[in-house]
Amino acid sequence: MLLDFTNVLTHNQGQFLHHKFTTSFSIILLLASFFSSSSSKSLSLLKWSRAFTATSTGLLSKTSLLTSRNISQFRSYSSFSDLRNQAVGSVEQASVEKPPESSVVVVTGASRGIGKAIALAMGKAGCKVLVNYVRSSKQAEEVSKEIEAYGGQALTFGGDVSKEEDVEDMFKTALDAWGTVDVLINNAGITRDSLLMRMKKSQWQDVIDVNLTGVRFCTQAAIEIMWKKRKGKIINITSVVGLDGNVGQANYSAAKAGVIGFTKSVAKEYGSRNIIVNAIAPGYIASDMTAKLSEDDKKKMLEDIPLGRFGQPEEVAGLVEFLAFNPAANYITGQVLRIDGGMKSSN
Ligand SMILES: NC(=O)c1ccc[n+]([C@@H]2O[C@H](COP(=O)([O-])OP(=O)(O)OC[C@H]3O[C@@H](n4cnc5c(N)ncnc54)[C@H](OP(=O)(O)O)[C@@H]3O)[C@@H](O)[C@H]2O)c1
Repeated sequence: MLLDFTNVLTHNQGQFLHHKFTTSFSIILLLASFFSSSSSKSLSLLKWSRAFTATSTGLLSKTSLLTSRNISQFRSYSSFSDLRNQAVGSVEQASVEKPPESSVVVVTGASRGIGKAIALAMGKAGCKVLVNYVRSSKQAEEVSKEIEAYGGQALTFGGDVSKEEDVEDMFKTALDAWGTVDVLINNAGITRDSLLMRMKKSQWQDVIDVNLTGVRFCTQAAIEIMWKKRKGKIINITSVVGLDGNVGQANYSAAKAGVIGFTKSVAKEYGSRNIIVNAIAPGYIASDMTAKLSEDDKKKMLEDIPLGRFGQPEEVAGLVEFLAFNPAANYITGQVLRIDGGMKSSN
């Protein structure tokens, strides 16, 4: 069993809390509905109260897995209206707030394509950006220069995300320069396409090592930093191929599907530390990766895209920016967001 049972309440404790939890919520919501001026509002509130009580009853009695950490967190909230005010306030302020100038962002595979667009978007927002690459040092340097031209700060770091020592050095470089890491974008990725029965061991292993194990190494290094300060955002670039599969990409779809499972698990593991983890699943985005496709393949793909075009790296970067910095995204975790022009899912 993978659950840490030291954190699981005994049956009796669970029952007691379950009772207190559901009763308290019913009372709070009934009072709220009583004091509400609009009768229709109080009616819907009452319905919601019943639904909530029923749901929480089901949930708690089913699992009884309310951890002691969550309970103390629950107690520390002075009231739910305080929490609501805090969350709504930060969302409302977003339109007037300046970009998070002091944020330190690590973007893997930032020398080209989607990673480059993400790094530039972060640079434009005034962040300190570590621009990672594995081979294209010249292109990575240009990205860094462009960020500096926008008034941001940048560091270029050559390192292979599938090598643990390289990843450790990369995070040490960011820490030495800027003292922390606030956001990690796991973007580095490769394809080694082949039909399964012809796929060489190396084609399988390289794709798994970079696209999945690389995400693991970088995430572990980032969480080590974020854990202590109880704050952080991790955004993993997966693919619609990880959700839908694709002919000739058994290795790539396995790695990208792995990233999705990984994202959901890590979001659950570190949510209590306010570390928010999500995945973005792009469809076909114009980059070196898709430039390899034959004209015939591109034509066929376009038939499956209702918007009738490939996406642009800047569009993916915009979604990354939203997840990383918009307070409206602070309650989104463990999710996979498709950005694919409405592509038909094969599922
Ligand atoms: N383009 C699409 O249609 C599409 C769709 C869905 C998902 N994605 C995903 O989006 C991400 C970016 O794709 P892209 O199209 O922008 O790819 P790309 O243009 O081929 O760029 C790949 C980037 O990853 C870097 N990289 C490759 N292996 C690395 C390693 N071992 N360590 C560190 N960096 C490494 C490359 O660095 P060098 O320049 O040094 O080689 C480059 O910066 C990938 O994860 C990809 O799977 C892309």
